[in-house]
This record gives sequence, structure tokens and C-alpha cells, in this order.
Amino acid sequence: MKTSLAIPVQKIEKSKIQETDFSNLIFGKTISDHMFVADYVNGEWTDLRIVPYGPLDLHPANAALHYGQSIFEGMKAYKNDKGEILIFRGDANARRMNESATRMCMPEIPEEIFMEGLLQLLDLDRNWVPSGKGASLYIRPYMFAMDNYIGVKPSDTYKFIIFTCPVGAYYSKPVNVKVETAFTRATEGGTGAAKTAGNYAASLFPALQAQREGYDQLLWTDGKSHSKIEESGTMNVMFDINGTLITAPTHTGTILKGITRDSVIQLAKDWGKPLEERFLTVSELQEALEDGSLREAFGTGTAATIAHIAKINVNGKDYNLPEKGPDAFSNKVLNELDGIKYGTIPDSRGWIV
Ligand code: COI
Repeated sequence: MKTSLAIPVQKIEKSKIQETDFSNLIFGKTISDHMFVADYVNGEWTDLRIVPYGPLDLHPANAALHYGQSIFEGMKAYKNDKGEILIFRGDANARRMNESATRMCMPEIPEEIFMEGLLQLLDLDRNWVPSGKGASLYIRPYMFAMDNYIGVKPSDTYKFIIFTCPVGAYYSKPVNVKVETAFTRATEGGTGAAKTAGNYAASLFPALQAQREGYDQLLWTDGKSHSKIEESGTMNVMFDINGTLITAPTHTGTILKGITRDSVIQLAKDWGKPLEERFLTVSELQEALEDGSLREAFGTGTAATIAHIAKINVNGKDYNLPEKGPDAFSNKVLNELDGIKYGTIPDSRGWIV
């Protein structure tokens, strides 16, 4: 992609890259040298710049800190064996960010600013993109309110930032999940489809309870009847029951429209895999676990990639899922997606920049 926006760059005095242990990357702990910043003032995005990654100057009355007008994205860049940097479906992230912005009464960020800010940042910090299987550069674009005002109203000013982190796996082993039927992540009419900070804050307490009981994550159910499986908060979820892939639909507005979710659906369709975008009920899930028709379950997400689920707790009962065989559908999609992302499989769908 050609870049045309003139973005001034202030380089870091001393890169942190020499002190970084790329063989031991803990997700989200290591941040690359620079960040892209833009400010929304007087109805327009202005002062685009790349500066050293560092602390922000925030007023104690900053509206985002009080009322949560804050949205973010998660995306990844990969290095191919020629040393080129490949971004996976960045345009889809830019579009989703703007859908979140609309729901949260925030201004859209033009795709040109989003993508060119990102491309110029990646060009500068290209040495931070790790190579090797499973390694990637996690990209965190986000936007938050900047008004210093504690009345409740949409802010007039905002900041948009992109910083990046070299990462390994988010889940380093298969995950154990618990079907949550007391707490609610999202209800119809709420903000569940927006990638907004409050959704994640609200999920922490129930997730922590489950973690204390030995589970990695929850499988959220619908807020009204708690009888239908929705998603997992850090990832969408898919179930293979008797060869049919089942995943929750997104029309209720309670589920994040995952880009990995969409990619898996496109691959499943291209490969003729039977697929149902519908709510799997908790009782159907329990039945499929009891009678062995649940072949596999996995999460899909940018951070999580394709996360194999090893154990599911339903109505207080633990079920161990079958060992993942080499011909599991999730292996096939993981290999295909990894191949496209790392440039070893041709990208016939226009997913790579
Ligand atoms: C992602 O997959 O990029 C996410 O945003 C999930 C999580 C790390 C918050």
C-alpha cells in the first residue's frame, strides 16, 4: 500500500530492542519503541505524529476515565521468510473500530489515517516484528475521550493511538471454560458488539471467580434466559457437532463481530464444511458432551488465534473434550490461516497487506 500522508516522526533516543528477549514474550508486556498519535479537536483529526512510546499527560477529570468512552482494536502483523511485513485484514479492523465509535458516540477515524499511521509506524518499528511460528506483532489501535469535564455527555475531543507489542501465544495451552449462567456480558440493546473498554471491565469479576475455580475463561450465555451460548469475551466460540460447525450469529448485537470468526466462516464455506450460524443452547451443548457428538470446540480471536477448548463446565459438571486429532477442523483452519498470515499459502481473498 502506498503511503501519502506526511506524518512527522520523533524517534526514540535509545531503542529498547536490545534489552528485549524475543524468545520469551509474555503477551502484552513488551511494547515497541514508537506510537502513532492523532488528536480530534474542533471536529477534525489533527496533529498526526509518530513519537516515542511513553506516558500520556491526562487531566484527572478526563471523561474516558469516568464514563468509559473508550474503544480499541486488536490486530496482528507477521514477518514472511523474505523479511516482509504482512498485516492480516487491517481494513476489517478499521471498519469495526468505526462501528464501535458510532455506538459509543465517538468520531470515526478515517481509514486512511488508521492505515497510513499504522503502515508508517510498522515501517519505523519493523525490527520489532518477530519471526518464527506463533510469533507476531500485536497491534493495539484505540481511541478515548479527552474532554476534561465530569458532566455526562459525549466528549468533544478524543485521542487515537496505535502502539504495538511483539507477542507469542495468548493462550499457551488448550483452554478450560465454564458456561456462565448467573452473570451477563451483554444484553440486546447494550454494547456487546462494540469493542469498548466497559465490556471487558464488566467481565473481569465473573471471569476471576471462574479462574479461582481453575477455568481460563467463561462461555457467556444470553442475558435474558441464560440458555444460549454467546461468546467467550476474549474470543468467539465454535463447536463441531457431528461434523457441523456451529457458532453464534451476530444480529442480536450482543456478540463481537470477530475478524478471525469471519475468516473461519469464509474458509468453512469455501471448503463446503456444514455450518450453522445460530445459537447453540446450553442443553444442546450438554447433550452433545454427554453423547460424544461434540467433536471439538475452539475459540477464535486475534489474540487467541484458534484456541482449542479442552474442558467445558456445564451446570456444575466438568466434561473433558476428546483429544484433538490431526484431522480436526480447527487444525485445518489454523494451518490455513497461519499459512496466509506468514505468506506460505497464497492469499486469494485479499486479506493481506
Ligand atoms: C484481541 O483478540 O485482539 C482482543 O482484543 C482480545 C483481548 C486481548 C482483549
